[in-house]
Parts: sequence; C-alpha cells; structure tokens
Amino acid sequence: MIALPRPAATPWDAPESWWPGLLAATADLDAPLGVLELDALAWNAHDTVRRAAGLPIRLATKSLRVREAVESVLALPGWSGVLAYSLAEALWLAETVDDVVLGYPTADRAALARLALDAAAAARITLMVDSITQLDLIDAVAPPRSRPELRVALDLDLSIHLPVLGHLGVRRSPLTDPEAAVRLGREIAMRPGFRLVGLMGYEAQVAGVVDRYAGNPAYERVIAAVKRRSIAEVHERRAAAVAGLAQIAELEFVNGGGTGSLESTVDDASVTEVTSGSGLFGGHLFDRYRTFRPAPAASFVLPVVRVPGDGVATAEGGGWIASGPIGPDRRPLPVWPPGLEYEPREQAGEVQTPLRGGGLRVGDRVVLRHAKSGEPAERLAAYALVRGGVLEGGAPTYRGEGRTFS
Ligand SMILES: Cc1ncc(COP(=O)(O)O)c(C=O)c1O
Repeated sequence: MIALPRPAATPWDAPESWWPGLLAATADLDAPLGVLELDALAWNAHDTVRRAAGLPIRLATKSLRVREAVESVLALPGWSGVLAYSLAEALWLAETVDDVVLGYPTADRAALARLALDAAAAARITLMVDSITQLDLIDAVAPPRSRPELRVALDLDLSIHLPVLGHLGVRRSPLTDPEAAVRLGREIAMRPGFRLVGLMGYEAQVAGVVDRYAGNPAYERVIAAVKRRSIAEVHERRAAAVAGLAQIAELEFVNGGGTGSLESTVDDASVTEVTSGSGLFGGHLFDRYRTFRPAPAASFVLPVVRVPGDGVATAEGGGWIASGPIGPDRRPLPVWPPGLEYEPREQAGEVQTPLRGGGLRVGDRVVLRHAKSGEPAERLAAYALVRGGVLEGGAPTYRGEGRTFS
C-alpha cells in the first residue's frame, strides 16, 4: 500500500526544480521508464475529495491501470468502490475490492461464465446494461436457475443534440430518455436472475471536453455555452430517470460525472456518487480545464540515443499517442528540458522521436507527459515511485502483472 498523506506544498508549480529532481531520483534506472510522483498523486486524490463536495468518489480504474495505486487511493476517506472497464478486470479486482461497478456492457462469455460460478464475485460486481439483448447474452451463457442473481445497473445516455453542432457526448447507450430507462428497468424487475441496483449517467460532453483553446477565445465561448446548456439538460434527464426508476427498484447508487465535470455533477441532487480517475495521474489534457488543475503525477522518461545535428536530438520511443479525436493534443507533451519541440514532419515516432531544442546529447534524458492517464500503463511493466526527489520503489502496472484487458 502506498501512503498518500496530503502534501503541504505544491513543488510541481516550479518546473525548473521539479523535473530535474525527478530525473535525479530515477537516474540509476534504465529508460524508457514511467514515473509516478507520490506527493502529486496524493495532492490530486485529496483535491478530488474537495471537489466532490461530500459525495463518495468511485475510482475509474481505466485511468490508472496500476493495482497498488487503485487500492491506495481507495484507502483514503472520500473514495469508495471502483468503476472497472472489463469484466475480466472486475473479477480480478473483486478479489480485494468489495464494490466493483463495471462501467460498460460486456460480451466476454468466459468472464460471464466465471461470474456465474462465483457467488462472492456476483455479490461484489454490478454489470452495466442498456438493452434486453445484453441480458439475453448473459442468460445464454448461464441461465438464471444455474447462477446467483446478478446485480445490474442502467447506463442512461446523457448526450445532447444541438441544431448547428449536432451530436455532443458519447454514443454508447440507446437509453436516450428517462422513459426508455424506466421501460428497461421494468423489464429487468420482472426478469428472473437479475437485480437492478443502480443508474449511471456520464455527461461526457462536460467531463471530457477541455475548456481552453489557446488563441481561440471564440471557440472557448462556444464550448462554455455548450457545457452550460448540457449541464441543465443532463441534470433534468438524470433526475427524471431516477424518479421513474424509484417506482420500480430501490437503487443503491446513482453515478454521474468524471474528473472533468465534478463541480457541476455534484450540483445534481439525484446523484449519490461521482466517478473520477484521470485526475489522479493528471494527463496533460487536464491542464486545459478551467475549474481545477491536477498535479502532473505521472510522466515518462526517454533516453536520447543519437544526435542527427541541426539542433535536433533523437529519443528512443515516444509515440505514445492518446485515444480520442486525433490531433496534436493527443501527443505526449515534452516537459523537460524546457522548450523542446517536435519535428512537424516526423513528430512522435514508434521507436524514434526527434526533438528540437534543449542542447541534448547522447545519454541525456527527456521527460514527457501523456495526454491521458491510464494509457501509458499499457506501455510499461511498472512505474518508478518517487516522492520529494527520492526513489521509493516501483509499482507494477496491470500489464506488468500480466493483465491486459482492453
Ligand atoms: C462511464 C464513465 N464515467 C466516468 C468517466 C470519467 O473518467 P475519468 O475521471 O477517469 O476521466 C469515464 C471516462 O471515459 C467513463 O467512461
């Protein structure tokens, strides 16, 4: 377990000492390597509790993918339960975590068969559904009489449609209005082998869209207006679904939000818990939100292996591109030494990344931050753990534990 006391200072605000300190602490480790700075992680975990304003926070594991970090944050007051991203992962985590909501539907028959044989896991794991067809799939793997009752939650779609901008939010659940959610809730209530225990509504167009667009104040105003409009509509839709479902089932939880939306999600009185994950490691996309600023807890270090000349040095690896709409903001952000720039025609490469600036030589090291928070773990067997400029050991990623999910 990693101790995560609230740090008294925010030394990452002084990059000129922060990044060299991190490099010095990891100088004896071979690069490429991932680094998790524990004071920064602790600061983020405590600040998320502040932002959640008293609501329990469910930890989105996809945004960490490091079991020790997940369990250590869960040990802090204010954090409770996980939002897992695959059923195989959920079964694994349920060995130690007693409240696991699977945030997305599953079609993993082998994992469903395991769940059906494991009464203890079935009591800890809640499956996410948005359609009868998912219930049929589960029953086809394990009919109700052959298995424990399975806990299910409904995923309410909270995307919106605006005249000029079109669809905003994610395309996931077909439950696009409260009535559809209530209809499905009724069918679940009548169906043997399932128990409706929760509702989740994720307002992606608020949580997952950054506020700041350098040099484009007009676009920033559009985004702010879209978010305001979304928040009003989302809260109404979620509250109506909760009111309707209350006639059918006793919901244990109503989950909303993500790291990017906590301030507004907690204002929805129908929500009983919020989700957050990516604000813990602090991918660089989160530098561009207005209401909060996570510390850069996760970063990675690449060695310079050659110098082609002309002010350019080439690092090993680097093309750790983030998922989502492809654009320059999905590239890793070089943060040390200062002033590094990609070569526009080559950018971050699969195994070689030329960087201009910094006067780098063979054997020097550069520090980068990933755009997102969980994805670097799919490149790393472990994170080096550093606190206050001192190496404290390492923590394996899921991948380092031989676990690759999705
Ligand atoms: C269902 C759901 N809830 C919440 C989140 C927010 O996660 P995070 O706080 O890690 O950004 C996501 C992220 O995609 C999600 O899919």
